[in-house]
Amino acid sequence: MSNERQELVDVKKNTNSSNTRKQVRMSVPNMRNVESHVLKYIFGQDEPVRQIITSIYRAVIFKSLNSNILIIGPSGTGKTETIKQILNIVHLPYTIEDATKYTMEGYKGKSVSSMLEHLYKNSGKDVSRAENGVIVIDEIDKKTAKSSNDMRDVSGVEVLNSLLKIIEGDKVEVDMNVFLDTSNIIIIFLGAFSGIDEIRKKRLNLNPIGFSQQESKLTTLDRRILKQDLVQYGFPEEFVGRIGTIIEMNKLTVDDLVLILKKSKLSVFRKYQKELKRMGIVLNYNGKLLKRIAEKSLSLDTGARELTNTVNYVFEKIIYEVLLNPKKYQRKSSKEPYRRCIIDLDIVNDNTKFRISD
Ligand SMILES: Nc1ncnc2c1ncn2[C@@H]1O[C@H](COP(=O)(O)OP(=O)(O)O)[C@@H](O)[C@H]1O
Ligand SMILES: [Mg+2]
Repeated sequence: MSNERQELVDVKKNTNSSNTRKQVRMSVPNMRNVESHVLKYIFGQDEPVRQIITSIYRAVIFKSLNSNILIIGPSGTGKTETIKQILNIVHLPYTIEDATKYTMEGYKGKSVSSMLEHLYKNSGKDVSRAENGVIVIDEIDKKTAKSSNDMRDVSGVEVLNSLLKIIEGDKVEVDMNVFLDTSNIIIIFLGAFSGIDEIRKKRLNLNPIGFSQQESKLTTLDRRILKQDLVQYGFPEEFVGRIGTIIEMNKLTVDDLVLILKKSKLSVFRKYQKELKRMGIVLNYNGKLLKRIAEKSLSLDTGARELTNTVNYVFEKIIYEVLLNPKKYQRKSSKEPYRRCIIDLDIVNDNTKFRISD
């Protein structure tokens, strides 16, 4: 292809991409609707959810060099789920990548350019959609200089540098002769960053004694994790410089977990409740049951992640019993009353502790 021809193709491609960009901007749903959608799924994170939606909207509308977003929060607090819920409703193509699986080209493991290939595939192989899509990079905290002291692996910093290239805007081949311009791609980093709290406390000169007294004087800005804390943590300055927004998720409490069980559209408890009702049975339980389930799940320190396992355990024998005798429990007509499944609080430790009324 002659240079002139190539240029023409480039110009055409750019126009397509910026048209799509305009389309994306015009077609994003009202931010309030996105917020109310996400808050039906995610609980205990109202403020971080708002911050995440706002920063994604800013990135879509005014993409600039550092519109990249970093979300910090312990495992199981809803980082990934929040992002998925937002991107699905905003209709942006995305890929979620695990940073620990990536190394530099030429080494074992995946190379950074395969992230772009995934995004391209998830966009239905639509170049301009992919060029306005989102790459979510999970476990980014495992790629710092300090955490990658395993000499057999290539330094995490190098991988961060090649990520930087994507962030900066580059043309990367994602298929035979198909190139993505990365300059509009939004990057969202996720990580638990355990131990960063100590760095922040040190910066604020907070010692454990008299902690609460000193802390009460701090502004909400002081309390935030700053870029300098990330540098302390081991991230290269150039990398940190490209992060536009840092958002912290809340640690989930027992009360949050109870709310999730009761209200979230993701609640497995509600799912079992609905299934049993369809089979002719309503649950009869003490209000403290949800608290017991929440406490049991939280003791493992994986946020809301353990709820599913605990709830599955609680309902295992009940569902088994009902499915063994479906005819026995099924209502013959809508006038027939539901049977009741009376659940003992101790079911959390012994899932045979229930009784179905005759
Ligand atoms: N704040 C929350 N509200 C409701 N459900 C949650 C919340 N946090 C986590 N979960 C549940 O736990 C699962 C795992 O959460 P995830 O978003 O993957 O956590 P993270 O990415 O922070 O480790 C989710 O799919 C969801 O079912
Ligand atoms: Mg996650």
